[in-house]
Amino acid sequence: MKTYRSVVRGTGSYLPARIVTNDELATSVDTSDAWIVERTGIRERRIAADDEFTSTLGLEAARRALDHAGMKADEIELIVLATSTPDYTFPATATAIQNGLGITRGVAFDLQAVCSGFVFALATADNFLKCGQYNTALVIGSETFSRILDWDDRSTCILFGDGAGAVILEARESGNEANPRGIISTHIHSDGRYRDKLYVDGGVSKTGTVGHLRMQGRDVFRHAVVNIAACITEALEASGLKADDIDWFVPHQANKRILDGTARKIGLAPEKIVITLDKHGNTSAASIPLALDEAVKDGRVKIGDLVLLEAMGGGFTWGSALIRW
Ligand code: UT7
Repeated sequence: MKTYRSVVRGTGSYLPARIVTNDELATSVDTSDAWIVERTGIRERRIAADDEFTSTLGLEAARRALDHAGMKADEIELIVLATSTPDYTFPATATAIQNGLGITRGVAFDLQAVCSGFVFALATADNFLKCGQYNTALVIGSETFSRILDWDDRSTCILFGDGAGAVILEARESGNEANPRGIISTHIHSDGRYRDKLYVDGGVSKTGTVGHLRMQGRDVFRHAVVNIAACITEALEASGLKADDIDWFVPHQANKRILDGTARKIGLAPEKIVITLDKHGNTSAASIPLALDEAVKDGRVKIGDLVLLEAMGGGFTWGSALIRW
């Protein structure tokens, strides 16, 4: 029987033009650049223009990923969009991106796992490719969290930003070579006991409103450190690898203190962490593909490197992906 691996063909990302600095936020809520930098590591974030939507951002990231892969849109069979900020309640925002790319075959759907969304989407696409159902996949994380923030709540509005990133995967037959390229493992988890620690207080069925993001930051922080370290250990043990083997750690970008703590806990050199949250803030499902694209385009992540992705978010949800680039 043939077996397949999902190999990364290309990456792309898109950020809205408007930069909002900590100092600008400090003019509307009681905060300061010094507090935000010290507690989170964030210095600025991008905010989508009124005529930019989750589909607009995701479509541009997808186009850039196709360019990078040297592929045409109609070569894509599967589109999975991770987002918690869809354009509309339905249809799936992924279908707007599919249409924007001019693709009329295959399948496009949304997946919602908040900040873990990209890892969940990658795991989903990987399983479709590994089982031979599709040959190519476009995995996108795109968010406009600015639309669900309570701009009067200083404990949350300073954390998030808008953006999109995309990765193109291609199924390749597994051969006998040592350390072949492709996704080595994905592990995803959720525990609904904690769903009220990080949530949006509106929705179609319960309130008929869009709602605003609410978070008990300290509790989320505490769980993040534990869950992230546990799922990294799980990924390494399942693959017979050690922290030392990792070339690049590309985590979800929520808080620099979480990233530093995780690196310390698993014994990973700080210079192996790809950090973009100083410039992007927390872009939820978009943060990992945005960081990946930056590290690929500036030459840090190279073919053959071992790359570890990890995320934790509302639900709680969390997970990891190990990729031989
Ligand atoms: O992406 C999904 C995963 N999300 C996360 O991982 C986020 C996890 N949580 C965090 O990153 C941190 O908990 C925060 C950055 C949200 C908060 O940092 P913290 O060190 O946990 O602060 P805190 O919530 O314990 O608040 C400390 C103090 C409070 O004042 P009092 O009660 O000690 O007087 C807050 O009212 O800081 C105050 N505070 C602020 N002060 C200035 C909260 N937000 C601000 C602010 N500026 N923006």
